[in-house]
Amino acid sequence: MIDQGTIDRIMDASDIVEVVQDFVTLKRRGVNYLGNCPFHNEKTPSFTVSPSKQIYKCFGCGKGGSPVNFIMEHEHLTYFEALKYLAKKFHVEVEDKEESQEEIAQRNRRESLMIVSSYAQEYFSNFLYNENEGRNIGLSYFKERGIREDIIKKFQLGYCPDGKDTFTRAAQKQGYKMEFLEETGLSIKRDEWVRDRFGGRVIFPFHNLAGRVIAFGGRVLKTDPKVAKYLNSPESEIYHKSKVLYGIFYAKNAITRNDKCFLVEGYTDVLSMHQSGIENVVASSGTSLTADQIRLIRRFTSNITIIYDGDQAGIKASLRGIDMVLEEGINVKVVPLPDGEDPDSFARSMNSTALMEYIQREETDFIRFKTQLLLKDAEKDPVAKARLINDIVKSISVIPDNITRSVYIKECSNMLEVAENILYDEVRKLKYKVSEDQLIREKREAVQQSYSKPLVVPLAKAKNPCEIEEKALMRVLLRFFHHELFKIEDEETKKERVVKVGEYILAELAADNLTSADTVVQKMIDEFMIHQHEEFFNPERYFVQHEDGEISRKVSGLLVDKHTESNIWRKKGAYVEDEVEILHLLVPKLIEEYKLRRVKIMIADMMKQIGELQLTGNMDKIIELQTIITSLNRVERELSKKLGRRAITS
Ligand code: CTP
Ligand code: MN
Repeated sequence: MIDQGTIDRIMDASDIVEVVQDFVTLKRRGVNYLGNCPFHNEKTPSFTVSPSKQIYKCFGCGKGGSPVNFIMEHEHLTYFEALKYLAKKFHVEVEDKEESQEEIAQRNRRESLMIVSSYAQEYFSNFLYNENEGRNIGLSYFKERGIREDIIKKFQLGYCPDGKDTFTRAAQKQGYKMEFLEETGLSIKRDEWVRDRFGGRVIFPFHNLAGRVIAFGGRVLKTDPKVAKYLNSPESEIYHKSKVLYGIFYAKNAITRNDKCFLVEGYTDVLSMHQSGIENVVASSGTSLTADQIRLIRRFTSNITIIYDGDQAGIKASLRGIDMVLEEGINVKVVPLPDGEDPDSFARSMNSTALMEYIQREETDFIRFKTQLLLKDAEKDPVAKARLINDIVKSISVIPDNITRSVYIKECSNMLEVAENILYDEVRKLKYKVSEDQLIREKREAVQQSYSKPLVVPLAKAKNPCEIEEKALMRVLLRFFHHELFKIEDEETKKERVVKVGEYILAELAADNLTSADTVVQKMIDEFMIHQHEEFFNPERYFVQHEDGEISRKVSGLLVDKHTESNIWRKKGAYVEDEVEILHLLVPKLIEEYKLRRVKIMIADMMKQIGELQLTGNMDKIIELQTIITSLNRVERELSKKLGRRAITS
């Protein structure tokens, strides 16, 4: 935990331009900076950084926020991790107050393991380049395989000298403790006897999301069937095999940019794809994908394309476990390779344009692929075909999205020559077998809802019909919260009292019980209410720096969005240089416009309800609604009249 004072100090010290510039090339444009958005692919820059407001905003993809948001989004860190990143960058001291002794010990321990791993990586890389054995054996092996020098450097490949304990002795001489060398698996110790795990192997380091080394894979150079081709680090406090993916650190930004992740099997597959310019690629390191690994990919994209080795065993092995991926709502595609090829050999056999073309051409939807593949075996065998149908239906039934499911059902019905409704029935059966109690729960909820349905149907959830009006109000709240709106005479004391913009708007919303259909806006209004009496409450700053990324994004959008601003003025029919001077006209007008809009929507909703009720003939309800509509009509007329009088046009 970091206390609020420290958070404030970090925010004050952080400069958005410096933060962004570490990752994006920025050019000055007037008071702002402009660059290519790191979060989506674009050719003309629409990524804006405002040093005065200390925010960034992309007009292409809509992402925006404070320095913290940028680091969270770009480096895929949590809120607190991002704060620590900024603290380090801008030299702000962070005291972790609430950590217990035990937590500190554990953190130190993990840190020690990472430090040892980092030392080992440097040692292995250094050995590869600067020692005769490294150059003659390790480096020449990589070169022979056609791995380019920039790729060797980027992935920090290395070589561990062939010998009993050359590395371990060097590490101990540098002061690294046996305890940590042993736990990371770099050294193997039996009583008094110690040896290097990776002796005589070329080294592929594993990096975590932050780019720190957490484990190694080592490959033998000789082809000796008695020796395992790859040796990997054992599980440790910093390395859980089932939770990491090889190459994720070097792939994460490309995955976000392309909204897709390629999945291959081996270390060398990742390297060769990078070498061909395809950087959104990770390896499962030979095992089938785990749920944790899927979740890791999901942080960046929900599109996975698996590139299979071109042998039957490879394909069949990859088919297993895919249902789990589909279940997570991920779109899975496959690219089958020609017989005998793996992504590594295949990528090296052609130039990168040809490789990309091949991938684009051969990329097939997973379920279609599976159906075609299995159909080949089953065509003449009815029993096998029935089994196949079950198998496919099982894959389809785990897909969470209704529409996607029905598209697949249609297609498989064609391919398998089975009627669509039969497939639907099968899918339904399977789906509800797994979640029968969920079905019961859903039913119960539906019944409860129909009892407690309010007379007036709330605004539609999907789209916020008052978006424009609410945007305008939120912007004024953010910018002029503490500004004087007008003076009134206090009823009790008979003294003159200043009414502020924020106080007025919040009171108006509360009086008419107006809540927003947009949950983010509503959350902000709630927080405005909580903080409104705090003298030093600075809403602009408070919300831009908000922990909730949705809020800070929305606010950044509001603050830099020239469009909203000019819209308001166009609507007012006048051009005003400084809106502060006309707040007393503007703010009540915005409130009235908002109310008018809400009343109109309520009336329309009720008319629709009446239309439906006429079918069932519920006259009591219809009369009740019509009475309400009559009074709403009156409110509407009054608001319109008021608004007419308030026109600013001169
Ligand atoms: N693997 C492993 N241990 C083994 C064999 C394989 O951990 N004994 C993992 C490695 O991560 C390897 C991946 O499975 O990269 C794929 O195995 P394979 O296709 O046999 O290796 P390649 O990556 O093709 O390696 P190379 O091209 O060097 O033979
Ligand atoms: Mn291979």
